[in-house]
Amino acid sequence: MMLFHGIIRVLLIEDEDFDVRRVRNTIRPFSDQIQILEVVSNGDAALKLLGRGKDQFDVVIMDMQIAGRIMGDSLIHAIKKISSSLQIIVITKMTVNITDFEFANKLLNAGAFWYCTKYPTDIKDFIYQPTDFIISIVNAYQRKILEREQLRAQKKLLHNVEDKLASVRILGISEHTQRIRSQIKQLSTSDATVLITGPTGTGKELVATNIHYESKRKFESFVPINCSSIPHELIESELFGYEKGAFTNATTSKPGLFEVAHHGTLFLDEIGDLPLEAQSKLLRVIEGGEIAKIGRTDKIKVDVRIIAATNKILQQEVQAGRFREDLFYRLNVVPIYVSLLKDRPEDILVLWDHYIRQISIDMGKTPPVTEEGAFDILKKYSWPGNVRELKNVAHRVLLNNDTIISVDVVKEIFHLQSQLQSFSSIDGVLFPHPDGEKNLWDMEKYFRKKYFEYMRKNSSSDAETARKLGLAPPNYHRLCKELGLK
Ligand SMILES: Nc1ncnc2c1ncn2[C@@H]1O[C@H](COP(=O)(O)OP(=O)(O)OP(=O)(O)O)[C@@H](O)[C@H]1O
Ligand SMILES: [Mg+2]
Repeated sequence: MMLFHGIIRVLLIEDEDFDVRRVRNTIRPFSDQIQILEVVSNGDAALKLLGRGKDQFDVVIMDMQIAGRIMGDSLIHAIKKISSSLQIIVITKMTVNITDFEFANKLLNAGAFWYCTKYPTDIKDFIYQPTDFIISIVNAYQRKILEREQLRAQKKLLHNVEDKLASVRILGISEHTQRIRSQIKQLSTSDATVLITGPTGTGKELVATNIHYESKRKFESFVPINCSSIPHELIESELFGYEKGAFTNATTSKPGLFEVAHHGTLFLDEIGDLPLEAQSKLLRVIEGGEIAKIGRTDKIKVDVRIIAATNKILQQEVQAGRFREDLFYRLNVVPIYVSLLKDRPEDILVLWDHYIRQISIDMGKTPPVTEEGAFDILKKYSWPGNVRELKNVAHRVLLNNDTIISVDVVKEIFHLQSQLQSFSSIDGVLFPHPDGEKNLWDMEKYFRKKYFEYMRKNSSSDAETARKLGLAPPNYHRLCKELGLK
């Protein structure tokens, strides 16, 4: 009879020769698949043997009543501690009451896979009903394989999470940063909604990522969405998705990010930029735990942990009528504030050293040493772009290829920084931002207005301006009005 592929390796714990013989006899017809590798007569010997090396056996068959210090359920516990995927089959004397469920329960709770009561001694050939006994051994083996696979998969996932956490470590020794790290640890067993606030570049997204990967949802998805970078009219379909045929262009159905994040975490970045209409819908989802997909009548239950972040002061947005007060309270369950870098100067040097070292290694060169005086300048600088700016400055410094980061080098970079304060440049295009960074839509409006003004200055009439802009006159006038130009 072919039961499966492979050989089941058995350790037998039995102190009576008569019973050892009966177990051997029972198994003998299947000896090409089930092999008793060792027989020991007491618990201590078994534990010593098992402790010698991992994975020598698949199944332990043990007699309940053996001589020695350790036996019964305490022996089962001890074996399971050495190897949790090793399966244990217990054989007991007939004297045990076969309807004693409490006894059975005790064995199974200790970790036994199965137990059987021995045949009386007048049956010399078998220890127990042979087919039942063999099938139990095979089942135990299959359970072992399954548990070992699960353990392996779990370990792999854990490794992935550990790697991820190592790559997003929150560095810093200031009291502020230490508090944030301990807040994240405290949140590890919680599903509470978190609102992370703080100025740009301070590490809000980093904090959100850490919260997810420290939480019990760490093996599930972390789904970020930047509410300011998605056109207003698309936000709802991004968040909630739609069914095929919900509108003209919906040729297939699309899962919303709430569905994608099911069992995991949804990170709503720049939540302060979420349009009011989407705010109402988000509120309803948070309150009801279900989403209304566009083009679908019934709602879908979702289990999603929400983390939101913004560099806006939401209370002010509420005052100005741009943010729903009820949504603010729903989000602000656990508030985390990440402060300006200049308010935690102890972190500056740690972060500087880290980035100088890391970027140097990435560039394949020896990290340069930073002069004491240069450190002083770094510490006194205001860092309006916070950690992100510090990282950029470290990058720029390392382009110099010096072995020492001198006061002069740092001064020169900050001089350039100050020249660029109101202009940033990418590929030669200057982006003026007198009020700091703007989102794409405000920037577009700003740019249109400037461009309209420029074209008007260089044309003799409205008709000429409209023509140069490639607009029909009515559209031109409408846009002028929208942009606040007379
Ligand atoms: N404490 C820290 N330790 C290590 N790296 C940090 C720390 N704080 C921020 N950073 C790094 O600085 C950069 C900016 O951080 P992040 O994107 O999290 O900021 P943010 O607050 O979300 O900014 P914004 O408001 O502009 O979106 C990232 O590269 C991040 O890894
Ligand atoms: Mg961010």
